[in-house]
Amino acid sequence: MTTPSPTLRLIQISDLHLVEEGKLLRDVMDTPNRMRDALDRVLTLGPAAVILSGDLGQRNHYVHDDVAAYVGHFQEQLGIPFITVGGNHDPIDSVGPAFNPAKIASGPELCDTVHDVQGLRIIGLDSHGVGRNFGHLTQEQLDWLAQMTAEPARHGTLLVVHHPPLPSTTTAQRGSGLQNAKALHDVIKASDVRAILSGHYHYQVAGTLGHIPVWVSGAASYNFDLFAPGEVLRGMADGWATLVDVYPETITFSSLLLTHRDEVFAKTVG
Ligand SMILES: [Fe+2]
Ligand SMILES: [Fe+2]
Repeated sequence: MTTPSPTLRLIQISDLHLVEEGKLLRDVMDTPNRMRDALDRVLTLGPAAVILSGDLGQRNHYVHDDVAAYVGHFQEQLGIPFITVGGNHDPIDSVGPAFNPAKIASGPELCDTVHDVQGLRIIGLDSHGVGRNFGHLTQEQLDWLAQMTAEPARHGTLLVVHHPPLPSTTTAQRGSGLQNAKALHDVIKASDVRAILSGHYHYQVAGTLGHIPVWVSGAASYNFDLFAPGEVLRGMADGWATLVDVYPETITFSSLLLTHRDEVFAKTVG
């Protein structure tokens, strides 16, 4: 039986695909405005930490210093960590020292970090992928991860990795997830890792890596229409984030629609 209230609430925001101020993503989408709006809304939910799971910027848009300053402001004001990993659109080492100021340990890549959020350990891993159509973890990173998870944390561990260790639902994205998922599983299968949070696919999908739950958040920018024909990637304007509720016995992942929808009714319960 699950206790009625989560012990911790986290927010995951993935795939912002930011462009420079005044520009539009694919000539139609104001992603910096989407980010500001998204943060204003999700922070009303009182998260203990915010996870940014990669593709902060759109390829060839130089936004990372601005993002670090923007989220840094919230970190200082609210006193909560923003835990950030890079994605395949983020230039190599762009998620560097300006990010993750609350980390308690760091690993082989600049955005390989360990955070302690009230006893929950959150480990971010750089899955590379810049200029490639798949992600991977190096042997050095896997060895580091084994070291970091050698002892269990008080409330267990979450991993954050941009490329999902799951197959894609769309045929057009086949093979673009985390290439060495099995090697990752070998490292964490006997550890206290309770779930893996990913992005990259631009739609929500849940699965497992062995017995470990994997959640792929919808993107904050555009999301793919799963009704599109097999080889077509049709990006839609809806944006999503994820509310991650951590209970002693389980973790739940609830999708948060960031864009408009119509109300049907509202009633007060209890
Ligand atoms: Fe993306
Ligand atoms: Fe990506």
